[in-house]
Amino acid sequence: MPRLIVINRDGARTEIEAEPDQTVMEVIRDAGFDELLALCGGCCSCATCHVHVDPAHFGKLGKMNEDEDDLLESSDHRTPYSRLSCQLNVSDIPEGLEVTIAPED
Ligand code: FES
Repeated sequence: MPRLIVINRDGARTEIEAEPDQTVMEVIRDAGFDELLALCGGCCSCATCHVHVDPAHFGKLGKMNEDEDDLLESSDHRTPYSRLSCQLNVSDIPEGLEVTIAPED
């Protein structure tokens, strides 16, 4: 199973085993990170699943679509390494992907 590393808003680092049929948002939420609100449940309409991807991994992810890009544009905490974790499928991420939960907007 792919491994995911999640850094919370306090800087604590947690390693999680992910199921291939999940999204990164689901993995983080199911692991009990309640600071990742994921309010829309993964419909790409809330941006509360915003994460910052480790720069070493960012280029290995698939391209974001226009909806994701537009939603991220509404965040004060967008960086060049921002993604919405509900738009990342575990089956498409590199082993050991490291993501940091973005500050709340
Ligand atoms: S969970 Fe709402 S955009 Fe990702």
